[in-house]
Amino acid sequence: SRSPLISPSILSADFARLGEEVRAIDEAGCDWIHVDVMDGHYVPNLTIGPAVVKALRPHSEKPFDVHLMVSPVDNWIEPFTGAGADIITIHPEAGAHVHRTIQAIRSAGCKAGISLNPGTPAKMLDYLIEEIDLVLVMSVNPGFGGQSFITSQLKKIEAVRRMIDKGGHEVLIEVDGGVNADTARQCVDAGADVLVAGSATFEGGAERYGENIAALRGER
Ligand code: DX5
Ligand code: ZN
Repeated sequence: SRSPLISPSILSADFARLGEEVRAIDEAGCDWIHVDVMDGHYVPNLTIGPAVVKALRPHSEKPFDVHLMVSPVDNWIEPFTGAGADIITIHPEAGAHVHRTIQAIRSAGCKAGISLNPGTPAKMLDYLIEEIDLVLVMSVNPGFGGQSFITSQLKKIEAVRRMIDKGGHEVLIEVDGGVNADTARQCVDAGADVLVAGSATFEGGAERYGENIAALRGER
């Protein structure tokens, strides 16, 4: 099967050494860097703001894949594009006018993604798929790293894959939550292009990051 892009979630990194951790996953061969932004309101956890993204920016030239779990989301687009995000993914439930938010992300020069929670149907994408660059299928409920993969989401990945292929859209499918070497293979078989992995990337410390990333790609 095809080799997926790997976007390690720095939520599982050592927050006291974030710059070094970003350099370490970069050198270990990751493709993107996934930044989980949580506001303690849309999700029950608080994480990283634009100042941290800006501080990390000089540590890697790889795309910063910023996942906004904040509500209301609109006022946060400009701070994160300004801080150096390359891709910004939002949750349609987190703002009043999702189509407008997508336009704001793209006019700031970033790629735009829509995230589907485990309970949100693929149908949500019907009138958005032509306006976006990425669909993020959540395979856990957002808020925390280290949760178990929700198997029912494989069917959603397949449904989104069919929608993209049928329409000939240039949209990537990214999967986020509980991705390890086993579930990674299932996601790729279902049609995923990009895999987010927090725990599975960072387990075992920096000397293991290279082999962890290779295992997620299905290379060993
Ligand atoms: C969950 C986050 C995920 C999470 C992934 O709300 O969006 O990116 O940190 O962590 P793992 O890979 O440990 O499930
Ligand atoms: Zn995420």
